[in-house]
Amino acid sequence: MVTNIGVLLLSLLAFTIGIEAVSLPLPLRVVHQFSLPTYLNSIFVRPNGDIYVTTVWPNASIYCVSDANTDTPTASLVHTFDEINAATSIVETEPDVLAFLGGKQSSLGMGIPGTFGVWQLDLRPKAHGGEPIIQELVRIPEGGLLAGIEALPDSRSIVLVSDSTMGLVWRVDTRNRKYELAVKDDETMHFPPWAVTPFGINGLHILNGYLYWSNSYLASVYRIAITKDGYAAPGAHGELVKRIQAVYLDTFCLGPGDNDTIWGATDADNRLVAVTPDGTATFVAGAPDEMTLAGSVAPGFGTLPGDTDTLYVATSGAMVFPVNGTIIEGGKIVAVDTRGFLPNQSTKESRPVIGFNFPSGSWPEYLLQIPMRYLSYLLR
Ligand SMILES: *[C@@H]1O[C@H](CO)[C@@H](O)[C@H](O)[C@H]1NC(C)=O
Ligand SMILES: *[C@@H]1O[C@H](CO)[C@@H](O)[C@H](O)[C@H]1NC(C)=O
Ligand SMILES: *[C@@H]1O[C@H](CO)[C@@H](O)[C@H](O)[C@H]1NC(C)=O
Ligand SMILES: *[C@@H]1O[C@H](CO)[C@@H](O)[C@H](O)[C@H]1NC(C)=O
Repeated sequence: MVTNIGVLLLSLLAFTIGIEAVSLPLPLRVVHQFSLPTYLNSIFVRPNGDIYVTTVWPNASIYCVSDANTDTPTASLVHTFDEINAATSIVETEPDVLAFLGGKQSSLGMGIPGTFGVWQLDLRPKAHGGEPIIQELVRIPEGGLLAGIEALPDSRSIVLVSDSTMGLVWRVDTRNRKYELAVKDDETMHFPPWAVTPFGINGLHILNGYLYWSNSYLASVYRIAITKDGYAAPGAHGELVKRIQAVYLDTFCLGPGDNDTIWGATDADNRLVAVTPDGTATFVAGAPDEMTLAGSVAPGFGTLPGDTDTLYVATSGAMVFPVNGTIIEGGKIVAVDTRGFLPNQSTKESRPVIGFNFPSGSWPEYLLQIPMRYLSYLLR
């Protein structure tokens, strides 16, 4: 355990030398903040604009935030679970039907193998004044912590599911309730030997025939060509898209629209990073010593007309890596206006660029301040 911390700190020191982040702080506003402690773990913006978030601490819950693009957003609890304590991610599989991942963890981020499965949240009864129907569809007994979920673009009732513990992707048919292995690529999906928790492949997205994923401790995004049915294309292998200069990369999304700019939430250092198709990574919002995006975990673009350049970012409130070593808050949803960043827009030149010089030595100092009781969430 001690060795692990040593290696982690050493790699952090190595990063400190390489960091030369220039941030364009994009304009942002808080849409809704939940109570302390609430660890939001994922975000999905439905076609009707409703934002669904799931939680993994202090319990497994699903919330819906409506009217996020107005001055009066409203948050409502959809459900809090008794039988599981982690709801890791959620996606819409058919109109008004969502699939999400849930299971049990022994401590934050430590999934109990065999307890995770794909669940369904069926909102259709609400149209007639009824309650949503929630049920577990498929348990994966030989799986570990299921982290990310994505629907196949051409058959949304089939989902790809990342298994962070086993380092692979399952293919789950939510209609016939069957699952099978879809993609396994140890080098890019498994957690590295020095990881403090057995947590590898995390967020998942499909764009233009590729499956993209993040491997969190490697702070990297990878991709592989897949078939329309969600299997690896013949002969395809996982390839590195980008390694971010950060200690951790939680989840990411691609956009806006069909743009393949990657927007990543770095979690441990409270930032949002944008990687343009030419491979340039730019930290566009948040800062290691600010609460702005404290514990940024998951971004997702708005879906309503006029709101598709708004990136909604869910946060954990920095529960695992408190800001300045001690400061945490309730998780929140922050709306980031990305229009100033998009490469081809004329606003880019006119927007003032605020330089951000990373104070040398601050990373290790910052990390050494983290109370052991917080690190223990990761080490248990
Ligand atoms: C679940 O967690 C939330 C905070 O995220 C808290 O407000 C709520 O009371 C908890 N519910 C139960 C049943 O413990
Ligand atoms: C990329 O994003 C811009 C700004 O939102 C949009 O105008 C354009 O249509 C997008 N391109 C694609 C291919 O979706
Ligand atoms: C963290 O510490 C730095 C340096 O003292 C300070 O500028 C910053 O405001 C602090 N952050 C918070 C959220 O208090
Ligand atoms: C943006 O610029 C790139 C290269 O400068 C070009 O290939 C691309 O077509 C442009 N996109 C739009 C939407 O104008």
